[in-house]
Amino acid sequence: MDRRQMESSIAGIVRLLGASLKNLGLYPTTHPLVRTPLEKCHIELAPFFADRPELALTVSDGTLVLEGVPIFQLTSSLELFMARLGAIGLPAVIFERGVSVEDLELFVRFLHETKEQGLPIPEIKSRLARWGVTRIRVTATEEAEEDDFTLAREIYGNALNVVVRALKDVRNGKTPDGAESDRVVREMSGMVSRNRDAMLALTLIKNFDEYTYNHSVNVSVLSLAVAETLGLPETERIGIGVAGLLHDVGKTQLALDLIRKPGTLTVEEFEEIKKHPEEGFAILGKMTHIQESTRAVVREHHMRFDRTGYPRPEPEYRMNPHSNVIAVADCYDALTTMRSYQKARTPRQALEIMRKLAGKSLDPDLVVLLERSLGVYPVGTMVRLSTMEVGVVTGTPDGGRGGPKVAIVFDRSGNPLAAPQGVDLEESDPSSGRPRRMILGTVNPLMHPPVSTGGILQTLAV
Ligand SMILES: [Fe+2]
Ligand SMILES: [Fe+2]
Repeated sequence: MDRRQMESSIAGIVRLLGASLKNLGLYPTTHPLVRTPLEKCHIELAPFFADRPELALTVSDGTLVLEGVPIFQLTSSLELFMARLGAIGLPAVIFERGVSVEDLELFVRFLHETKEQGLPIPEIKSRLARWGVTRIRVTATEEAEEDDFTLAREIYGNALNVVVRALKDVRNGKTPDGAESDRVVREMSGMVSRNRDAMLALTLIKNFDEYTYNHSVNVSVLSLAVAETLGLPETERIGIGVAGLLHDVGKTQLALDLIRKPGTLTVEEFEEIKKHPEEGFAILGKMTHIQESTRAVVREHHMRFDRTGYPRPEPEYRMNPHSNVIAVADCYDALTTMRSYQKARTPRQALEIMRKLAGKSLDPDLVVLLERSLGVYPVGTMVRLSTMEVGVVTGTPDGGRGGPKVAIVFDRSGNPLAAPQGVDLEESDPSSGRPRRMILGTVNPLMHPPVSTGGILQTLAV
């Protein structure tokens, strides 16, 4: 495509977006006059991604700019589109490879329904994430990553509030609002697609007193990561995420001392615990916005891959395969959490234990998939570097390339640093041309004073 073709194609794309936006003022979203331009726009965008991962459109002084060159083929719908961008305060829109018609539709609806003017960029970003727009970004700046951590924290917090509210409602004999769970799971799913590390890092938050709440959100995030690695369609991913969020909601029907009881349970107590999947199934049945499969998954989350769990399935009973996704996420989060009767395993230790359970209580394919979703060195793993410094993994490699991101916490003599220091493993030593630091292997965290991975991530993100 030469420059002129590119210009006219871009003008066409923006015109189509503008046409859809204009018609959205007159017709519902499903109307062909809204939908068809977006489908055409999607087709027009495709050739651009043959040789680039993203396409950036900038609006500068009311003019549309493509890679630094202004485009002047103005029409009324093109002007309308740019006027909306300008009014909201969007300096640049980046379409990423893989952008879907749904992303375009949500984005146009966002432009249509956002009435405020001059919104700050972080606010626009957070709204787009909440709307579930994943392959359209609003700026391509270096600080994007930091913003993602802030946004992920906010999203995690929202989900936590929803769980707290839902469990409280059930305890008070009220039916929780399913729309709320659906909404926060969509936010988390958007964030998992956008920056998985930022979202996964938060699953390291293990609040001992509020175990059930954090556990519920963590299981949701972990299962969303697995669901995305599986490449499942959006509706199924959301269904799995909601199941993760509410999988233990039935525990609200049990006595609090029983849930909190440290150590081994008596046979009678265990019989009580075994009721929680059925109780959860019943509660979800009363809620709105809950998919039928989500209900089934909540009922089946302890049935186990080899069907030896509870409630014990009849021989001809067909389990929903998504129940196994919740089971691996549930197991991983439980193993990596400290409880009164159990020390917290490191991510690697947890995965090692889970590999032994693969094919028995856990689906072997999904254990592999969880490992892949978390990376070779999962976020939170302590590693020894070739410099003999010790660091904590704070991020997985981008797109599987390069090394993980590491923050150094102990110097070569084992002394803690005043503040964790983020290092780039790609950085090479100028004298030898070889990487300055390489990972030698994992480190037993018990050999070092305790470090708070959550704290490290927070320090680095600020
Ligand atoms: Fe459970
Ligand atoms: Fe659980």
